[in-house]
Amino acid sequence: MTKTQELANLEASARKNLVYPGTNLVFGEGSPSARVMLIGEAPGFHEDREGRPFVGASGKFLDKLLASAGLKRPDVYIANVLKNRPPDNRDPLPEEIEQAAPYLDEQIRIVDPEVIVTLGRFSMGKFIPNVKITQVHGVPKRVGRRVIVPMFHPAAALRAGSVMKLLQDDFARLPEIISGADQIYGEGEDPNQLSLI
Ligand code: URA
Repeated sequence: MTKTQELANLEASARKNLVYPGTNLVFGEGSPSARVMLIGEAPGFHEDREGRPFVGASGKFLDKLLASAGLKRPDVYIANVLKNRPPDNRDPLPEEIEQAAPYLDEQIRIVDPEVIVTLGRFSMGKFIPNVKITQVHGVPKRVGRRVIVPMFHPAAALRAGSVMKLLQDDFARLPEIISGADQIYGEGEDPNQLSLI
């Protein structure tokens, strides 16, 4: 089965099995074999209406950030921790994250990206728990076979100019991180002993 077919089957299963109170399930989109995957938090108002990730104000800004790193949407795969819009745009609840996690895990397994850019603390927390985004943003960290690059959420950047500058600087360094990803190891890590997650 091709990755496109696997993703289509997974999306069909998410539509059948996930409870979503909003209008549309927002599964994710992009290249099924992208080297870079971006993971946001949850769909907002516009995403819920269109059924596509990052199409509102945050998404327009994300497009600019991607362009600054020499990337376009079709080059990457974009997903979210939650596949539905939480009522009133509240933070995701632990049980919602848990419910959607098998689908995100499968998206990661199928696309098999080398680099995952997490946008915001909920996405970061899946891979790098118990750290503050203010302390680790932009610093790549190998987690198993992949390199995780924690970044601020574009919505936070749109709310605060200081965060915007940090996020723009982090994206500007992304091409360098992507090209050197196979050289990024944790302290004392044996590249031949990496777990296969
Ligand atoms: N914010 C997110 O985290 N994801 C989206 O898809 C849109 C806004």
